[in-house]
Order: sequence, then C-alpha cells, then structure tokens
Amino acid sequence: MSLKQEPVITIDGASGTGKGTISQILAKHLGWKFLDSGALYRVLALAAQKHGVAFDNEEALQVLAEHLDVQFIVQEDLSSRIILEGEDVTEDIRTEKIGNGASLVGALPAVRTALLSRQRAFRETPGLVADGRDMGTVIFPDAELKIFLTASAEERALRRYNQLKQRGISVNLGDLIKELHERDKRDQERAIAPLKPAEDAIRVDTDRLSIDQVVERIISEIRVKKAFPAISHWMVNKIAELEIAE
Ligand code: DC
Repeated sequence: MSLKQEPVITIDGASGTGKGTISQILAKHLGWKFLDSGALYRVLALAAQKHGVAFDNEEALQVLAEHLDVQFIVQEDLSSRIILEGEDVTEDIRTEKIGNGASLVGALPAVRTALLSRQRAFRETPGLVADGRDMGTVIFPDAELKIFLTASAEERALRRYNQLKQRGISVNLGDLIKELHERDKRDQERAIAPLKPAEDAIRVDTDRLSIDQVVERIISEIRVKKAFPAISHWMVNKIAELEIAE
C-alpha cells in the first residue's frame, strides 16, 4: 500500500504570467512550502556558465545537475536566497541571458531526469505549491489541484519591461517580445516535458486580471475541491478559516 503523500497545487505557465508571485502568495496563505522549479534550471545554467560548460553539452550538464551544490534559504515572505557553491546568486540568475540558458538546458532530457528527484523532495508537510512548466504533467501528476496560467506575449513582455524599468534596467520592448516568442516556442515544442496544460488543469487567462484576482480565483477552486477525497484535513480547516475571515 502506498503512503498518502502531502497535497500539491501546481501552477504552470509561460514566463511573465505572474506564476512566481501568485504561487508565493498562495503558499503563504496556506502555510505551505513553495517550489520555484524555474530557479533550479536557472541555477544550472549559471553553474554551466561558471564552469565553462556549453548550454547544449547534455552529458556534462547532466553531471553538473546531479552534483549541483545549491541551497534555497527560505525568507519570511517565502522568497528564497539562492546559494550556488557557497555564493549568493539570487539576483544573478534573473538575467535574460540566464533565462534563455535555462530554457536551453531545460530542453535536454538527461538534465530533466537529473533534476526530477530534487524537485519532488520539496513535497513536504503540510503541502506544496509548485511553480513551473511541467509541474502538473510530469513532476506531480497526482497533484490535488492543477492551474495553468496564460497571458498574451505582449502583456507578459510589458510586465517584464516594467519590472526591469523599476530596477533601473533599460531594455527594448520589441526585443523582449521577440525573445519571449522564441523562448515560448522552444519551451512548447521541446520533445520532453513541453510547456502545456495537464489534461485535468484549470486554465486561467491573466491578461485582464490583477495578481490578487488570480489568487482569489485559485482559492475559489480550492474551495470547490473541498469535496475531493484526497484533500488533507488540514487544508479543509484552512479553507474554513478563510471563509470565516471573509
Ligand atoms: O520560470 P522561469 O522563467 O524562471 O524559467 C526559466 C526557464 O527554465 C524556462 O524558459 C524553461 C525552464 N524551465 C523548465 O524547463 N521547466 C520548469 N519546470 C521550469 C523552468
């Protein structure tokens, strides 16, 4: 008989759909753990760059992924300081170059296999909110609730443009849209674990919704899932608390 595992909510979607922020808010609401799987692929791309490994050298990347010395130090707001080989790389992994590198290394089957158990290890009591591309399809196919977020490339590029501008980084909006299209195409068309909704995922189009509205929408789905037999008692209690607070 298999042991009952901790509940998981998966939030998949392309870059710029707000999945990171939304997953973190949700995890905080629920008091659950949070997995930013994209950060793992980004850290691997950075490690490759650091060690002079090309983004298409599958064999070397597999070894690097298997031995990746990375720590996620969770902060109070559930964001993580990310430490690679003893060095804080939290900001370094957020560049466009490393984002593209992550997309390239993520297209390699041996890399995805090497990172599989590392991602599943985040499934801890009382539950996990997992953010990525293949959380609902490959990593946690038995998740209690699967959300797939969408937004137009233009809207996503604009969000990214504003984020970068706030940080004092100037970029060309047209270039951002072009890069997003290329990255989406690669993530969607790769042979293994492509970016696509799980059959049982609920799609939410975020184009005209604020972050809070998307979170509300997901919480309403959690309520609907109350009847789902595999859901933990803990979660049912938490939902009741949320209802009382309204
Ligand atoms: O979510 P993000 O922008 O941090 O992800 C960066 C890249 O990493 C993304 O373009 C593809 C890859 N990735 C992946 O292949 N599978 C995941 N579960 C998460 C990210």
